[in-house]
Amino acid sequence: MAFEAFSLELMSMAFGFCFFTFTILFSLFSLSILVLRMKPWCNCDVCQTYLTSSWTKDFDNLCDWYTHLLRNSPSGTIHVHVLKNTITANPDNVEHILKTKFDNYPKGKQFSTILGDLLGKGIFNVDGQTWRFQRKLASAELGSVSIRLFAFELVKAETNSRLIPLLSSIAKDQERVLDLQDVFRRFSFDNICKFSFGLDPGCLNLSLPISDFSVAFDEATKLSAQRALASSPLIWKIKRLFNIGSEKKLREAIDMVNELAEEMISQRRKTGFANHKDLLSRFMGSVDDDKYLRDIVVSFLLAGRDTVASGLTSLMWLISQNPKVEDAIRAESDRVMGTSQDLVSFEQMRDMHYLNAAVYESLRLFPPVQFDSKFSLEDDVLPDGTSVKGGTRVTYHPYAMGRIESVWGSDCVEFKPERWLTNGVFVPENPFKYTVFQAGPRICMGKDLALAEMKCVALAVIRKFNIRAVDPDYVPRFSPGLTASLRGGLPVVIKEREVVCL
Ligand code: HEM
Repeated sequence: MAFEAFSLELMSMAFGFCFFTFTILFSLFSLSILVLRMKPWCNCDVCQTYLTSSWTKDFDNLCDWYTHLLRNSPSGTIHVHVLKNTITANPDNVEHILKTKFDNYPKGKQFSTILGDLLGKGIFNVDGQTWRFQRKLASAELGSVSIRLFAFELVKAETNSRLIPLLSSIAKDQERVLDLQDVFRRFSFDNICKFSFGLDPGCLNLSLPISDFSVAFDEATKLSAQRALASSPLIWKIKRLFNIGSEKKLREAIDMVNELAEEMISQRRKTGFANHKDLLSRFMGSVDDDKYLRDIVVSFLLAGRDTVASGLTSLMWLISQNPKVEDAIRAESDRVMGTSQDLVSFEQMRDMHYLNAAVYESLRLFPPVQFDSKFSLEDDVLPDGTSVKGGTRVTYHPYAMGRIESVWGSDCVEFKPERWLTNGVFVPENPFKYTVFQAGPRICMGKDLALAEMKCVALAVIRKFNIRAVDPDYVPRFSPGLTASLRGGLPVVIKEREVVCL
């Protein structure tokens, strides 16, 4: 026995030594690949500031530094050579990338590899024919009136039975601080799960532990996004091969997401899907392959979850900072709904132009997707004369665009819903200038659902409560990730309004 233990120890030492040597060699190898891929010798100011992170001396967020650079660029375009990334805030360039030369600017292999384990061949993660097939399939479903009504009813139910009671209970204790971002994340996860799978994870019930599925989904998106931050993709690929560190956690999280998805699909196959209204049941009519079904639905979960939560959080923060906007929303809703009705109807919402303008305006300043990249297939020249090499990254930047005078005028940094109204009527803008939902053939498929959800929730909350940030000098600081999320959340205090009923 002692000999066996000794040989085992020797073997493990030998393995440890090999692994150590391998790690050193591998690090040197990745470093050399990194040197070749990133051109870290670039000496231009932008690249040096990026490489040394010295932008952090003047800016809280990377997106604010990029905004500063794009504002000062005469063409509205900059290059970060070390990342081989052309970043633009010029609407003509954006139209060229997203529409005119759509086929030359796919999402690309780099993106799909990073999210491939989580999203598989879901719409969010594919290009070409596979994308076209799913886009057509999903457009037919999402375009129907019945799904819009179904989605709206889900939002109303979650608002009425969970969100408002939760906020009311918090409001009773005037000292209690609530993280509004956390509440909206739970709310939107419940909602998108019911919409996509017909499953209610019950995350908004704060007294219950947050569901394992939600935790696993969070972990899986966070760790997948972290892959993009690795200095070379080889680093995470090797970790994945050996199933170690963050890649081990990612695999476990994805396994959990898969288990639940498979369970939902097999249950639905057994019980029949014809009478269900959720997306999974609708897609089951056209797709037989269960793995493909899982991929399609998980893409929707990712697309619709944090985006809505992020949009709602910044909307409520901006409104809390702008009591005149808050009053105008309340006055408009009193006119359309009266003062005693709790939740807005779909038809009533159509008459609320000011509310619509406020939501568009908050997304303009705080887009949940702050920037979005494509990869050029072939060499190209953008309308402003910028050359783009084939195989390099091109990024449009909705966050910066919202803060550039040449795009939105001298008052661009102000929260001003009125800019969207002509004689009190909402007038939409050029989608290549307002790129919050992307634009062109790949424009967000959930845009109308997301706007309806945000308006319904915001209205219900604003009519019943006064919400104020705990820190009156709060400045948004973002965490890195696929969707804009506030570092430290949004701590608020809530008071119930005294409303005089008619
Ligand atoms: C305020 C909320 C939302 C914002 C700001 C938003 C924004 C975006 C953006 C920028 C894209 C393009 C991403 C890319 O190609 O890399 C996108 C794509 C997409 N979004 Fe949304 N989204 C929101 C909510 C939703 C919701 C609620 C759903 C589903 C119910 C959804 C479904 C999708 C889908 C399926 C795509 C992929 C479209 C395609 O590739 O053809 N989104 N969204």
